[in-house]
Amino acid sequence: MQELNGRVAVITGAASGIGLATAHRLAAEGMDLVLADIEPGPLAQAETALGAYGGRVLAVPTDVSSEAAVQALADAAFSAFGSVHVLFNNAGVAATAATLRMRAWEGSLADWDWTMGVNFLGVLYGVRAFVPRMLEGGHEGHIVNTASMAGLLTGANPYNVSKHAVVCLSEGIYKDLREMGAKLSASVLCPGLINTRILDAERNRGDGLGSHTDMAALRQDLQRFATGFESALKGGYPPDVVAETVLDGIREDRFYLFPAQAFILEQVSARMTAIIQGANPATR
Ligand SMILES: NC(=O)c1ccc[n+]([C@@H]2O[C@H](COP(=O)([O-])OP(=O)(O)OC[C@H]3O[C@@H](n4cnc5c(N)ncnc54)[C@H](O)[C@@H]3O)[C@@H](O)[C@H]2O)c1
Repeated sequence: MQELNGRVAVITGAASGIGLATAHRLAAEGMDLVLADIEPGPLAQAETALGAYGGRVLAVPTDVSSEAAVQALADAAFSAFGSVHVLFNNAGVAATAATLRMRAWEGSLADWDWTMGVNFLGVLYGVRAFVPRMLEGGHEGHIVNTASMAGLLTGANPYNVSKHAVVCLSEGIYKDLREMGAKLSASVLCPGLINTRILDAERNRGDGLGSHTDMAALRQDLQRFATGFESALKGGYPPDVVAETVLDGIREDRFYLFPAQAFILEQVSARMTAIIQGANPATR
């Protein structure tokens, strides 16, 4: 999809990090924007800042883990702008660094419900609410779903599992769109370590979803891992780098978007090789 000027992008998780950086990048290309996020204050600030590019901007407070809220987002987007050309299903959460090493039998099911609800169902709801209407519009368009390198690496924790689901869903969507000869295409975004507020996601955990399992207190060995991971994330790429990759992916119609550090790509490569060789999973 080459022409972006005057076309419409919907971005979830648009008030911070990768979503916000991508909103700026697409606004600079002349796109009109529908911004969705669960945090009303930062969402309103983003709406004001992005209005400065001159395009139309609509902010819709949305909890992507609610199917009704995502349907309402689609209603708002289509009634305001008539069509949608880029759908960026990007909102996501990770409780704490230590929960990335959670074992499947540890912690509470609430951690799974919350993470799967936002990271996987949020993407699925976005696809189901927007894609039929985008297809019906008959315009050229592109869907970008945010997974993670965690979606290509193993881990029996809610974050990795949710991101594997997004990779699988997105590959299937790409194939289905191709088979249909649709004017829509799709990408899956798998960032490595990016310096955002993702580990501060608990701020958006709604009532009734419990609080995160304090893994570092449960298993002392995780304290060192958590500290190291937090500092690695702070030293990660700025979200602008990811925004540039997303833009290139839409323009060049590339499916796998990997703004990731070389050492992580090496781990993915080792895993894929082990799978086809029938080797057992490597231990850490
Ligand atoms: N930061 C990284 O290193 C990294 C790496 C790989 C993948 N990702 C993924 O990138 C995406 C964006 O995260 P980020 O790193 O920019 O973090 P971030 O916390 O800076 O931004 C995430 C945004 O999503 C919003 N959000 C959270 N729950 C929501 C909900 N239920 N409904 C709507 N909005 C909600 C937050 O308010 C926030 O504005 C996520 O899917 C994340 O899993 C991040």
